[in-house]
Amino acid sequence: MSLLSIQLYGSPILNSKTAKVETLPPDFSTILDDMFETMYADDGIGLSANQVGIPLSFFVADFSLHDETGRKMVFINPEILEYQGEVAAEEGCLSVPEIREEVIRAEKVKVRYQDVELNVHTEEFSGYYARVVQHETDHLSGIYFVDRISRLKRSFIASKLKRLAGDAKKRLTIQVG
Ligand code: CO
Repeated sequence: MSLLSIQLYGSPILNSKTAKVETLPPDFSTILDDMFETMYADDGIGLSANQVGIPLSFFVADFSLHDETGRKMVFINPEILEYQGEVAAEEGCLSVPEIREEVIRAEKVKVRYQDVELNVHTEEFSGYYARVVQHETDHLSGIYFVDRISRLKRSFIASKLKRLAGDAKKRLTIQVG
């Protein structure tokens, strides 16, 4: 297993909508192992494919880190079908380090997704689970949690975000050159 490098705020792959998974990429189980490993190393509970440079619609999450009834899960082509209720809680993101902000999200969501055998499931998640699903599904559409906070709050972190976007650009240049 190897750790993958996490894309930072402002990286083009994080600003764009990911492509639907039609067939599983080669070495998919290795990719998943590496994603879980990378996520654990950075104390995350969810990680989307585009956060590690893969422009496809899937994410991993390990809800057992939150409570013992939680499962380790892979969501392929997730789609939120229904939103219910509203609740505010603080969020952070591995691609937006050092920033934590309160985000209002649905308390409960109904999600359609495919598992690692591409079987389709429709399942409801609430509370913390629902928040992770919404945060990661947002990533797959090119949306950051900081896009969902008030304009005023965003103005307070504008310079930090600008710096992160600058770092992302520098890293991209290094990768290309
Ligand atoms: Co995130």
